[in-house]
Parts: sequence; structure tokens; C-alpha cells
Amino acid sequence: MRELIDKLARTRSLSADEYERFVAVRTPELAAELAGRAREACERVYGDAVFARALIEISNVCRNDCYYCGIRRSNQDCARYQMGSEQVMACAQEAWRAGFRTFVLQGGESPALTDAWLCSLVRDLKASFPGCAVTLSVGERSRDSYRRLREAGADRYLLRHETATPAHYQQLHPAAMSFHARMECLRNLRELGYAVGVGFMVGSPFQTPARLAADLKFIERFKPEMCGIGPFVPHHGTPFASEEAGTVDLTCYLLSLIRLMHPAVLLPATTALEALKPDGRERAIGAGANVVMPNVSPAALQGSYELYDRKPVSEKTAFQKWAELERKLAPLERRLVIDRGDAAEPSPKE
Ligand code: 5AD
Repeated sequence: MRELIDKLARTRSLSADEYERFVAVRTPELAAELAGRAREACERVYGDAVFARALIEISNVCRNDCYYCGIRRSNQDCARYQMGSEQVMACAQEAWRAGFRTFVLQGGESPALTDAWLCSLVRDLKASFPGCAVTLSVGERSRDSYRRLREAGADRYLLRHETATPAHYQQLHPAAMSFHARMECLRNLRELGYAVGVGFMVGSPFQTPARLAADLKFIERFKPEMCGIGPFVPHHGTPFASEEAGTVDLTCYLLSLIRLMHPAVLLPATTALEALKPDGRERAIGAGANVVMPNVSPAALQGSYELYDRKPVSEKTAFQKWAELERKLAPLERRLVIDRGDAAEPSPKE
């Protein structure tokens, strides 16, 4: 496999079969080797910097019924909320003072998240916090809507592709949702000039090594600025309640492969990792991740934005979260930086 690692690092491309082999032959030794190479690749582009994003969960109302997600429409057991603009601005204010320069507004696909409301919020954020970046993560919308939000100042958009295999997409979502629509949204976002984030869950039901290889191949071709991957964690109120969770090990392994194929991609150490292992996020940094996205939503609401069971809830302030992350990164010889944390230009191949 050493030769295949070299080939990936050198050409930044493998065949689907080769990616599948990586998944099939994973050993702790191979994982450690890949993690070391991925970390070096990351440090060559970003040095010792880790970027911070303030995650604000603006609404858990959702019209969709994804089989894996705790805020799916059919989950009656979920206290629905929508934050007010002032509440969002207050969260952002505290996060800004603590050092965060990117705000991620994340929410379900709620009819209350109108273009007018979101555009005015984006404008407010950009005007109140000069130099900040605004990332939106509010699901599938029309091209016109994406255009208006972009014109209002949104810089980035996170929309996980969930799986690059259409048949798998249909096993994770009801018929009303389509792989085709998801891809069209991603194309629109890119054309409108957003920095785009894709991603998928590791260990989702019906995932196979071949399907993971297709995800890696998709990421290789699409060249997203960001890629969020985290383990699938079952939620008790969903059709996938008794499915098995994904693992931190496989997630870290895939992060390393993605880092080697795209040395400049922004890779968050996702919260779902922390839900499974207390040191999950640090392990991801050790495997090539370079972004952390602590939740700065009001503590009282955090429990209701429950995509999966065991999701960590923390009463800590944005200041305390910043300090805690700095402390955890120090032993990894990484430092949290006060910076928007845009993706670097892809460097020329070796
Ligand atoms: N486990 C892990 N991740 C999940 N997501 C939704 N539900 C779960 C779950 N049960 C992820 C999806 C979605 C993102 C916002 O959260 O990939 O795109």
C-alpha cells in the first residue's frame, strides 16, 4: 500500500478500485501511516493553524424526512424552535469577541427561513462584524434563492452530498428527495461563487466500501473547498434507530485520504466524532483535519437541535469554548487562529 499512498500524494488521484482497496485493507498501521502523511500535507499548506467556526443552529424546523436525522419532520418528539435575528446577532457578538471570524448559520429546511429574513441577517452580520465570513447551511433551495443570499454577502455554503451513489441516496431519503436535485444545488452554489462544502456520514446504513470509494471519487472530481465527514450516529426517534453507528477510526482514515487528494481542502473535525469518543475531534486533527466548529447556540436550544443521540451539549460561553479548544490543540502543536480561514489556493502537484 505504500506505493499507493505515494501515488495518491503525488497525483492526487486514484481509481475507484484503488480507493476501495484502501477501505478494504485498513489496519491500524496503515491508518497511522496515512494520518502522518495527511498531517504533513496539511501543515505544508496551513502551517500550525487550525480555523474556528462559530456554529449557530438557527432553526430545527424541517420539511424533510431523512431516515437518519433526529430533526426529521415525522419526529413528533422534538421541540421545534426558530431563533430570532436579535438572538442570532447576540450569539455572533459573543463569538466575535471570543475570536471567531466565521459564523455558520445552520438550520433545517424551514419555510420560515425566507430569503428576506436570511438576507437581512447576512447583511447585518457582514455590516456589524467587518471582515467576517458567513457560511450558510440551510439545505436545498432554488438557484434564485442561493443567488439572493450570495448577493446579500454569504461567502460559503455547506450542503453535504450525503452519498455519491444515487441508489444509496434513495435508501437514506424518502422518494420526495433526489440525488439529482442535490447535485443540481451543488452545481448552482459553485456557479454562484460560493466556497462550497460537501460531505457524508461514515457508516451510514447501506454504505459499502464500493460506495465509500464513489464518495472519494466524487470529492476528487468536484474539488470542494470544504468537506464535512462524521460518523453516522443513530437517533432513537428515526427509522434508523437500531442501526449501528459509524466509527471514529474509519472517519479519521477517510479524512486522511481526502487530505492527501486535496491538500488545501478545509476539513472540520466534526461534532459527531465527539459524540462517539471524547477525544474524537483531536484524533481527527491528528489525521489531517484543520477546522473546528464549536456550537455557540444558546445552551437552552442546543438539546433540541438533536440530529443524533449523544450529541454534546455545553453551557460554556464562546470564550470558554475557544480557550478549551486552544488547550486541547496545544499538545498537537496546533494553534487556533483569529482568522476567517478561507481555503488556500490548491498548490501545484509535486
Ligand atoms: N448521524 C450523523 N450525522 C447526521 N446528520 C444528520 N443526521 C445524522 C446522524 N444521525 C448529518 C447529515 C447532515 C448534517 C447536517 O448532519 O450528514 O447533512
